[in-house]
Amino acid sequence: MHQQPKDTGYIIRGLITCIPIIAVLISACNSHTPAGGAQKTSTSTDSIWHAPDDNTIPAGKAGETIRYGRELIMHTARYFGPQGSIAKISNGMNCQNCHLTGGTKLFGNNFGVFMSSYPKISNRTGRVEPPSKRITDCFERSLAGQAPDTAGPEVRAMLAYLTWVGKNTSKGQKTFGAGATKLAFMNNAADPAKGRQVFVAKCKTCHGANGEGLPTADNKAYTYPPLWGKHSYNDGAGMYRLSNFAAFVKNNMPFGTTYKNPQLTDEEAWNVAAFVNSQPRPHRDQQTDWPDLKKKPIDAPFGPYADGFSEKQHKFGPFKPIKAAETALINQKL
Ligand code: HEC
Ligand code: HEC
Repeated sequence: MHQQPKDTGYIIRGLITCIPIIAVLISACNSHTPAGGAQKTSTSTDSIWHAPDDNTIPAGKAGETIRYGRELIMHTARYFGPQGSIAKISNGMNCQNCHLTGGTKLFGNNFGVFMSSYPKISNRTGRVEPPSKRITDCFERSLAGQAPDTAGPEVRAMLAYLTWVGKNTSKGQKTFGAGATKLAFMNNAADPAKGRQVFVAKCKTCHGANGEGLPTADNKAYTYPPLWGKHSYNDGAGMYRLSNFAAFVKNNMPFGTTYKNPQLTDEEAWNVAAFVNSQPRPHRDQQTDWPDLKKKPIDAPFGPYADGFSEKQHKFGPFKPIKAAETALINQKL
């Protein structure tokens, strides 16, 4: 049976199950140690992130704004999709398709450490950017559309919600299961042909034989979002980077999976990422991204790069030699 996406439930179940299994989590941390050291690191002393309880949403206008922001993140297509009631500026996906349970799920691309990380410089633009830039980025890349007005009530409400979700986290705080997570690099390159087999066995039933997803009956949103094709995220999106995709599916797919009961091996996750991200999707010109090549992520799929490795190796791996070369360069300078 297909499971339907649920808006709530995870949070409560998550909180209840958290308590008795701290010991288990401490060992689980190790298997989630991020790849190569370039990413945020989790250690066994990190505290487990959990989303604030709904009853901490204030009463009155401020609370309404937070709830509106959450609604927009969960059901983005209703408001901004091809038949959106506010503007028709996106591909029909919801923010929640990738930021699971409204961006509150552990290891589900949650927003736990987002707001507390500001102010900061964006490596992708080389400039100090406001948090609203992340929202417009995801509209232009993940939702392959156009940016909404950042001074408008919708973006303001989303920011209010993001602030509320991250309200218990302080800048630089180490957390378990919040923000970006990564799998360890494989020795070899990810293999799209092997990934196709994973897709057919474990993804196709929901996401469709051609990765096209399944629209809702009224055709205004998706029951199962597309993985490729003209309605999917574009090649400038975070999910187009192999490490993001692999970690996301390992911890969350098939739908209903949590980091505690993964259905894929790391190798299957990397390979299915390579298969899906080899399929056609909208293109975005990214020539001005990552102006400082030394700060470009290892798996940024388009050159130029600061090193001599090929675009293909940067997209599919093997990543360990790239990482080793980067580390050697840093050590030389010290
Ligand atoms: C039981 C149905 C089901 C299966 C099987 C399934 N998914 Fe999903 N997938 C979903 C749903 C539902 C969502 C959106 C979640 C939400 O909005 O809360 C989703 C979201 C995603 C997303 C993020 C949104 C997007 O469309 O880009 C990716 C990537 C993804 N799935 C990949 C996979 C991969 C890879 C597999 C196989 C290993 C898989 N899924 C298996 C139901 C499924
Ligand atoms: C296709 C999947 C996908 C969709 C849909 C999506 N995002 Fe994202 N988003 C990501 C990924 C992956 C990252 C992290 C990787 C990166 O740096 O790009 C991310 C990062 C973010 C961040 C930064 C989080 C942090 O902790 O730094 C914010 C905020 C965000 N997204 C908001 C949104 C909003 C708002 C929407 C809807 C308008 C949205 N996203 C839609 C995949 C998606």
